[in-house]
Amino acid sequence: MAFQDYTLIQAPMAGGLSTADVVAGASRAGALGSVGAGYLSGDAIMAAADGVRAAGGDAFAINLFIPAQRDATDAEWRAALKALAPCYRQGEVPLPDHFPKLPDFREQFDAMLEARPAVFSWTFGRLPRSMMAACRARGITLVGTATSRDEALALAGDGVDGIVLQGEEAGGHRGGVDPQGEGLPLAALLDACRDLATPLIAAGGLMDGADLARVMAAGAAAGQLGTAFLRCPEAGTAEGWRQALADAGPDATAVTRAVSGRWARGIANAWMDGRAPTEVAPYPDQHRLTSPLRKAAGVEWKSLWAGTGAHRGRALPVAELVQVIEDERRAASRSG
Ligand SMILES: Cc1cc2nc3c(=O)[nH]c(=O)nc-3n(C[C@H](O)[C@H](O)[C@H](O)COP(=O)(O)O)c2cc1C
Repeated sequence: MAFQDYTLIQAPMAGGLSTADVVAGASRAGALGSVGAGYLSGDAIMAAADGVRAAGGDAFAINLFIPAQRDATDAEWRAALKALAPCYRQGEVPLPDHFPKLPDFREQFDAMLEARPAVFSWTFGRLPRSMMAACRARGITLVGTATSRDEALALAGDGVDGIVLQGEEAGGHRGGVDPQGEGLPLAALLDACRDLATPLIAAGGLMDGADLARVMAAGAAAGQLGTAFLRCPEAGTAEGWRQALADAGPDATAVTRAVSGRWARGIANAWMDGRAPTEVAPYPDQHRLTSPLRKAAGVEWKSLWAGTGAHRGRALPVAELVQVIEDERRAASRSG
């Protein structure tokens, strides 16, 4: 299927959530599956692509994070570490003296090129021209992420093939270029960008086919859904997180910068209330500093990323969910 023909994209979800079975299941059912590879090494990216192909997914996307412009200063690092010490104590996790770095972007990018997915999508910035050209030479479709009209215009000017317009309802990190970007409701963002010639992919709070039909009527070519897939049995969602999603009410989510240094939305827990640290290092150093706590602690100190539609999630297998959403979309477009 050509990129322009997709109406549904299974959002990339780094951290082991968008497993090979999720991506292949989505692709086999007629959506575009996406591997969230932002935290994977080059070798792990190759293995992930092999896994999707072995599970029967042919066309899929690989997604990476554009690296930050600067590291935390020593003072920022020390202040953030000091502010996190009580959080580690409350989470009953010993404060480590070493915080592993994120994988090298160049190595990730080269592995992605070698894996040769149908689509390369990225978040947190703009892709250098030489890298765009390397993708083009291999026939890889290019998709960037914007959270404002200015960011969308910049990506369109770079010549991308598609722009994910991510509204503030979205689960996970705000993927704009500006780490402190305010965020806009999806409807307002679509409205502000609908004159752009580049295909727009709406993201944020979309949970069913009626939501998809609505954003397509407002100018989107497709929708990218993340939270909707988190309760699928094939997803790598941990048990406590699944339970929090199953229990979520309409106001279950909130945003925080305390986990990573970038704004992100999830089920409200210690990261969103008075227990959260007030001194926060810039992304990705804050992510490095909080990672051991989030891995080892209980659910109150985990990052339970989810969008505002969390309470409308369905615990269906991936292929069935894609089919149901497509049926709902068709029905809604006929009646709308
Ligand atoms: C658990 C989780 C992890 C995510 N990880 C990524 C990621 O690695 N790369 C990316 O571009 N977007 C990521 N996102 C954001 C999605 O691409 C998308 O914008 C978002 O899921 C849309 O909002 P929704 O969750 O309400 O559907 C993530 C979202 C969630 C919920």
